[in-house]
Amino acid sequence: MKMAMFRSRAVAALISVAAALVAVAPSTALAASAGVALQRAPVNLQDAVSLQRGAHLFVNYCMGCHSANYMRFNRLTDLGLTEEQIKEYLLFGTDKVGSPMTIAMRPGDAKEWMGKAPPDLTVIARSKRPDYLYTLLKSYYVDDSRALGWNNLAYPNIGMPHPLWQLQGAPQLKVEDKQSHGHTVQVKSVVAGEPGLMTGVEYERAVTDLVNYLVYMGEPWKVQSTRVGIIVMFFLSILLVFVYLLKLEFWRDIKH
Ligand code: HEC
Repeated sequence: MKMAMFRSRAVAALISVAAALVAVAPSTALAASAGVALQRAPVNLQDAVSLQRGAHLFVNYCMGCHSANYMRFNRLTDLGLTEEQIKEYLLFGTDKVGSPMTIAMRPGDAKEWMGKAPPDLTVIARSKRPDYLYTLLKSYYVDDSRALGWNNLAYPNIGMPHPLWQLQGAPQLKVEDKQSHGHTVQVKSVVAGEPGLMTGVEYERAVTDLVNYLVYMGEPWKVQSTRVGIIVMFFLSILLVFVYLLKLEFWRDIKH
């Protein structure tokens, strides 16, 4: 009797914990997107050329402020880059091929300049999700009321100035009044402004490559394990044929 009561209490406790988790999950997702519709990031970890371009963008445009302390440069050989190429295109003066992707900026200084310290980006795609990162990099607009001149629809009043403005140019905010169920609602979007070095299509591809790389960096073994997985499945299916033939062979003797 006592035992049964204890058990049902334990089950009730488990159910309430599960319910609490379910209740929390959507609200954290919403908080991250600040209410804008997230765009789908076309991530493809099998596209080595895209990952190489993403690594290049990351080193040139993000590592001025962000580190990737848990990623070593020489891991990039997995993407088909040779150590020579890594040295030539991606390393700064004093870095060695085997060193982690650290930066010289002190977190305290960064916080003073931009209000918040730039987070380490090694596993950012796992904590913030690829679609959010993709949307974030496409949602910057010029805002003169902000200290650094930039704002973002996906993260209002973000401390990070637009890291890719040279490529994208200076997008503008567009606010439209739309009717919805008899109410007027303001719909905000970002439209092209002063052009940058890239066209809209080229910029989209650059953001795709960069997000692709950020996803890869969070789980670098994933590219390899997918490949190994396919080989293992292939091997097992061949093995299955032989095991089946062997079974027939054994049972032929037993049945007679
Ligand atoms: C000038 C310095 C600087 C550069 C360059 C920079 N960042 Fe940032 N980044 C920051 C700061 C500061 C923050 C913290 C902003 C905040 O939370 O308000 C940040 C935050 C972020 C975040 C977290 C956003 C969130 O929702 O919490 C991501 C993701 C990010 N940066 C990606 C990038 C990428 C990708 C690049 C390269 C294309 C880049 N950053 C280049 C300064 C920089």
